[in-house]
Amino acid sequence: MNEEGLRVAGMTGMDVLSVSQYEPAMLREVFEVAQRMRSIVKERGGADILRGRVLAALFYEPSTRTSASFIAAMQRLGGSVIPITQGVQFSSVSKGESLPDTIRTLEQYADVIVLRHPEVGSAREAAAAASVPVINAGDGSGEHPTQALLDLFTIHDELGRLDGLHVAMVGDLRFGRTVHSLTRLLAQFDVKLTFVSPEILRLPLDLMNEARDAGLAVRETYNVADVIGDVDVLYVTRVQKERFTDLAQYEELKSFYVITPELMKEARDEMIVMHPLPRVGEISPDVDSDPRAAYFRQVQNGMFVRMALLASVLPPHGGRSDEA
Ligand code: NCD
Repeated sequence: MNEEGLRVAGMTGMDVLSVSQYEPAMLREVFEVAQRMRSIVKERGGADILRGRVLAALFYEPSTRTSASFIAAMQRLGGSVIPITQGVQFSSVSKGESLPDTIRTLEQYADVIVLRHPEVGSAREAAAAASVPVINAGDGSGEHPTQALLDLFTIHDELGRLDGLHVAMVGDLRFGRTVHSLTRLLAQFDVKLTFVSPEILRLPLDLMNEARDAGLAVRETYNVADVIGDVDVLYVTRVQKERFTDLAQYEELKSFYVITPELMKEARDEMIVMHPLPRVGEISPDVDSDPRAAYFRQVQNGMFVRMALLASVLPPHGGRSDEA
């Protein structure tokens, strides 16, 4: 398969650490390539453009979608994967190896490293140690840039535009890294944002200020019923249990919001409900059959966007990225 149109020029060797790296022009190109990846997957399952390339997937935190979609993306492009996902406890990490040493080891085998880690800033630390591209698959409550890219792709794909939309983010806006990355990314567009959370899970002030400084209309409320009738996108999130030191507090908050078919009656016909998943009760399964429930389509888009990113950061012909 010819590689024409299956990579974004100028991204070779780039780390993917934060959504701040992406401006609208580059986003458009990533999304165009993701669309082509979708067509190729539908027509013939994949393309062989990453044959001989190896991805190391290093996950220090649980993951289903992010790890599986990176693995699927790599395999559908003809590459292969070293998965260190289920059992970091079975690797040398459990012997006390430092993150830079683990990274310097994996880059001896792999051409790209995908990292999920519980500490904010870990992806940046790994990238500083690595000579191959590092992709941040979630650094604690910091960022989750590839999720935000697939979220934005989904919004555009479902609704046909970004400018002029009203997006409400619901749930754990304090610890939810997908919300942090998506807020930063949406701040580049002309959107209205409403943040819906209990007081204790409000969006961090620096992010709120970033959105305001970018000129966005921003509002906060704790009541989802206040906004559901006015939104184009309802982005629902799980309360991030693993970030709580006080589990009693988590128990109090975990079911603060539940999206039900009754609540959906108040929403517009032309709107979508999104969720990065996993859900643990925030959206009733009875909502799944509603055509506005976009969360499983969102999952599939993740693979197309990650195919586009992998094809773009890995060098096109021969050689490792440090020789490109
Ligand atoms: C999210 C994450 O890990 O931040 N999951 C995902 O990657 N799709 C959301 C979450 O765990 O709540």
